[in-house]
Amino acid sequence: MTPDLLEQGAQRVAARMEKLKTETESGGRSAGYARPHVAGEVDVTHGRILYLEDVSVSFDGFKAINKLNLDIAPGELRCIIGPNGAGKTTMMDIITGKTRPDEGQVYFGSTIDLLAHNEPEIAQLGIGRKFQKPTVFEQLTVFENLELALKTDKGVKRSMLFRLDSAQGDRLAEVLHTIHLGASVTRQAGNLSHGQKQWLEIGMLLMQDPKLLLLDEPVAGMTDEETARTAELFLSLKGRHSLMVVEHDMSFIRAISEIVTVLCDGSVLAQGTLDEVQADERVIEVYLGR
Ligand SMILES: Nc1ncnc2c1ncn2[C@@H]1O[C@H](COP(=O)(O)OP(=O)(O)OP(=O)(O)O)[C@@H](O)[C@H]1O
Ligand SMILES: [Mg+2]
Repeated sequence: MTPDLLEQGAQRVAARMEKLKTETESGGRSAGYARPHVAGEVDVTHGRILYLEDVSVSFDGFKAINKLNLDIAPGELRCIIGPNGAGKTTMMDIITGKTRPDEGQVYFGSTIDLLAHNEPEIAQLGIGRKFQKPTVFEQLTVFENLELALKTDKGVKRSMLFRLDSAQGDRLAEVLHTIHLGASVTRQAGNLSHGQKQWLEIGMLLMQDPKLLLLDEPVAGMTDEETARTAELFLSLKGRHSLMVVEHDMSFIRAISEIVTVLCDGSVLAQGTLDEVQADERVIEVYLGR
């Protein structure tokens, strides 16, 4: 090849790179690949910790999730509302690897394809999930439950030999304080109130320091006071963790929400502040019209 042709080729590539840079605000997908990337580390330089595109899943021909598009920013506390059967829990099943979608993309940061991972791997990557019913070990103390949360990935033998190191001890103390159970550390979990059991389970998730927490109806069955304390707890978690919270309790949503996403028939019906979505005719219709 002549030096002239080489020069022309180089100029074409340079022009293409310039164009890519301006295609999106963040510099296009190529910008992500231009940085060194550590395997398993969540790359949030594109401003998204979770990204779902055109995700669908059917159960016996019924589309529970239908072309769902949704993304969440790092440190965001996103509220998800929607009528019964809208697909909220199914969406969490897909993110956590419990259900495989028929089509679509699910990314954790811009480089980790969650569909290439199974449930335990996804938990290991830093996505914690809280189901509605508390699942603490009732016979064990609050302390033992939190300690156990650090051992889940160890074999039985290693678990028996397990001792908290000082960093883990500090983490446990911090979590105890966060979940307001510092004064109950030696109590048996079975003797806690329903709300306290829920907090303990959230504490068990926090022991793993998850980057993203998915919480499905966390205040169901709580007293008003417990609900108010849970709102404070979630507000204290945002920023350090990203949270996706599904709830039917609108006073709770009002207390914690920034952006609210309304799901209906497996896709996003509306998104905005709680006031905005509550004033949306389509939202009013799905809540009241059927
Ligand atoms: N494993 C499954 N097999 C068959 N159908 C399912 C399965 N999981 C969910 N569905 C159906 O998918 C639809 C969405 O259910 P999903 O539990 O996600 O709704 P939801 O928004 O969480 O509702 P709720 O507010 O009542 O918890 C429902 O019609 C449900 O019956
Ligand atoms: Mg549900």
